[in-house]
Amino acid sequence: MTTPFAAPKGVPDYFPPNSAAFTAVRSALLGATARAGYGYIELPVFEDTALFARGVGESTDVVSKEMYTFTDRGGRSITLRPEGTAGVMRAVIEHGLDRGQLPVKLAYAAQFFRAEQPQAGRYRQFHQVGVEAIGVDDPALDAEVIAIADEGFRALGLTGYRLELTSLGDATCRPQYREKLQAFLAKLPLDEDTRRRAEINPLRVLDDKRPEVRELVAEAPLMLDNLSPETLEHYERVKAHLGDLGVKYVENPRMVRGLDYYTKTTFEFVHDGLGAQSGIGGGGRYDGLMAQLGGQELSGVGFGLGVDRALLACQVEGLAVGDVTRCDVYGVPLGDAARSRLVGIGAPLRAAGVRYDMAYGGKGLKGAMKGADRSGARFALVLGERDIEAGVVQLKELATGEQREVPLDDVVTEVRGALGR
Ligand code: HAM
Repeated sequence: MTTPFAAPKGVPDYFPPNSAAFTAVRSALLGATARAGYGYIELPVFEDTALFARGVGESTDVVSKEMYTFTDRGGRSITLRPEGTAGVMRAVIEHGLDRGQLPVKLAYAAQFFRAEQPQAGRYRQFHQVGVEAIGVDDPALDAEVIAIADEGFRALGLTGYRLELTSLGDATCRPQYREKLQAFLAKLPLDEDTRRRAEINPLRVLDDKRPEVRELVAEAPLMLDNLSPETLEHYERVKAHLGDLGVKYVENPRMVRGLDYYTKTTFEFVHDGLGAQSGIGGGGRYDGLMAQLGGQELSGVGFGLGVDRALLACQVEGLAVGDVTRCDVYGVPLGDAARSRLVGIGAPLRAAGVRYDMAYGGKGLKGAMKGADRSGARFALVLGERDIEAGVVQLKELATGEQREVPLDDVVTEVRGALGR
């Protein structure tokens, strides 16, 4: 059968039971941010196109090829957010959050939109948990941000990933390095496309995956060897603080990020079990961004962690995350009077924190018990006419089939006791 509608290309649906793992991954990553004092910010799904063009950079693939941009009814150019940092900066500037205590520490969990070619782990709508710490240029803050991401992944039980680290320098050394690299690349027998890329973003040529290009650029000068004394000192201190925090890393001096705003510390979390789309998170410092967007000259550092990819990584590592059971207790009514009683019992049970569901639609005993098994509940409450007359209900443990009578009036206490609460 063909269905009349399908989700847009590259857009995943999450539904039970797998959605439990998805929400568990998202809350584990967000939980790590809350434990470090980051407050939650809810961002708009769309913003002025110019915010992303100016913030993320016109020459990036994200802005030049991947944005979902449209003209709204008022003739304004609007874009579905392709990332979170620019929107957070906009909100901080607009609401003057940077006039209070610094750093401003904000966390978000949200969908983002990029019109990329869909493949395993690469979607057009994807989810990130992110943080931004704005207003203090302290290497200890860079290390904290990195450690929170690491802690989030570890809280899920993930082990098969590595943290890659580098420094992209800043305005005091990157322009000089860029010239040096361009001069080096200009002497190589590169094809037309690559030559053009060298003009626009020479760093990207260093990240070229083709073996013949890799060989040509093997001896290219690296940013890490050309840092100014200040940025080198900053980088050394970040590494020392990662040591203080017990966070392991490997240096990758050829790391290229897809967004233009990065300065100094830059990092990526890479999972080896995911194939081509191996980046489960990334981030870094962006000291010029706030001024670029019309705010004060304040520094910032943050990350975005891919929730969809972290979930895939959990599956690859065989980790069971999230509780797939929908309820603790399932009502099985036999007859109309029993139905009324079991409907009513739902209110005090749920108020007591017990997850309760029941058989709807006038099912018989067999159908209702099947529903109980499928729900993942530990117990069924089976109620018939005779039980009502006796003022009792049958509390049945579904795994063992063991059953005992409990007084209807004490059902909340009995159920909580049986669940060990
Ligand atoms: P990003 O590296 O573009 O950084 O994205 C962060 C993470 O989002 C990636 O490592 C990946 O896990 C996930 N991701 C990106 N694109 C897709 C996609 N098409 N499908 C599935 N997952 C994807 C940023 O967005 C920066 N705003 C992070 C940041 C915050 N830097 C500083 N503060």
